[in-house]
Amino acid sequence: MAEPQEPSGPPRAPSGTHDVLWPESARWEELVSRFARRAQMAGYGLALTPVLEEARLFRRGVGEASEVVTKEMYELTDRGGRHLALRPEGTAPVVRAFVQHRPSVPFKAWYVTPAFRYERPQAGRYRQHHQLGVEALGSDDPDLDVEVVALAAGFYDDLGLRRVELSVNSMGCEADRPTYLSALGRYLQEHASELCQEHQERWVHSPLRVLDCKRPQCRAVTEDAPRMVDFLDEACAAHFARVRAGLDALGIPHRLDPRLVRGLDYYTRTTFEFASPALEGAQNAVGGGGRYDGLAEVIGGPAAPGIGFGIGIERLLLACDAEGCFDPAVPTPDVFVVDVTGGQAARDLCQELRRCGLAAERAFGGRSLKSQLRRADRSGARAAVVVGPAELQAHRVQVKDLRGDRPDREVARAVLAVELVSDLLGGDAGTGAAGGGP
Ligand code: HAM
Repeated sequence: MAEPQEPSGPPRAPSGTHDVLWPESARWEELVSRFARRAQMAGYGLALTPVLEEARLFRRGVGEASEVVTKEMYELTDRGGRHLALRPEGTAPVVRAFVQHRPSVPFKAWYVTPAFRYERPQAGRYRQHHQLGVEALGSDDPDLDVEVVALAAGFYDDLGLRRVELSVNSMGCEADRPTYLSALGRYLQEHASELCQEHQERWVHSPLRVLDCKRPQCRAVTEDAPRMVDFLDEACAAHFARVRAGLDALGIPHRLDPRLVRGLDYYTRTTFEFASPALEGAQNAVGGGGRYDGLAEVIGGPAAPGIGFGIGIERLLLACDAEGCFDPAVPTPDVFVVDVTGGQAARDLCQELRRCGLAAERAFGGRSLKSQLRRADRSGARAAVVVGPAELQAHRVQVKDLRGDRPDREVARAVLAVELVSDLLGGDAGTGAAGGGP
């Protein structure tokens, strides 16, 4: 293969990846902290695992034949000859960590992570996307499925999304699968010539993937295909019924989608997906997940049932834009320090005010009074503290109210922090004002 040519011009973010800069990143911060709060309220602790894993983790865990592994995984050999992959998803790494460290169960973890898939970039589909997710290991209790689904549903609700639709299905277990696959295989064989080009060639090897295909030819064929839910054994059927009853009891609307098989091979029993009709068809899944009761064993650990979900942050924000919700205010400073005496006063005041709990900003580079005041205005700060030569000499400062119409006032430098904390935060400057130290 020919060496790719070095692109000209300054380096850019690779195709399908993107930068998230301020102020858009403030929305991400708020999103992650709201998710963290919800997850913590339900007993989930943060899990941080490496972005690089041994490639065999995903081959075994996500599935040797799944598209995510065969077509989309970023793989590399490091300088020590190790075969590694950038994580295409967040579940296998958490289960790997569980198997490696054997924490007590139930083990309940939440995460926020980039995920890498070599896909054709388009709106809502990226080569590096980001997921918020949870994984809960160590119990097959259907109430845990309900808890996990309710956590995601509550989060969408918290953001103000009203149009997210929840589909559920059961993939059954190892015992149910062969009978179902042979029924599905017989059906697909009868209709093979009506399938889309890709699945005419592939249905024999991956019959379940046909159910996932969004092309109209396959949709028409699979409309009447045998349904996994009709092949569940007694225990799986009872499990699924209990999950659905639990969702009803918590008032979480959902519909059965017998074709919901999801693209990763580890799923057993409950699977679910949240779709936003406000987004374009093929990229409208704003989150999805399910049970993976065999995954821990597949990657060499003890038997440990598990369930979780992943929510795509970029798509979630696109859905919020489409619904006109979740537009949190960008944080602004409390105070902007304007110093026309050389900058040392601003340096010291910012440090002191921040120590007292006030968000303090300043300009750099010895700008004029007019330019600093313009910056103060643009910053959204509620007050400007102005230090000129006369104030410096008198150990005083001018305080300008930038939002209301309080007249400017002069304040002794020594009590500035205490006054501003009480004015702007409605409190007491605590030890910080007088505390000293760096
Ligand atoms: P997934 O459905 O492959 O599941 O991905 C989860 C979510 O990530 C999707 O619903 C979508 O919002 C977002 N997403 C996926 N691929 C892309 C992409 N290329 N660009 C933008 N967003 C994307 C999983 O990854 C499973 N690990 C979820 C899970 C957790 N199952 C059990 N536990």
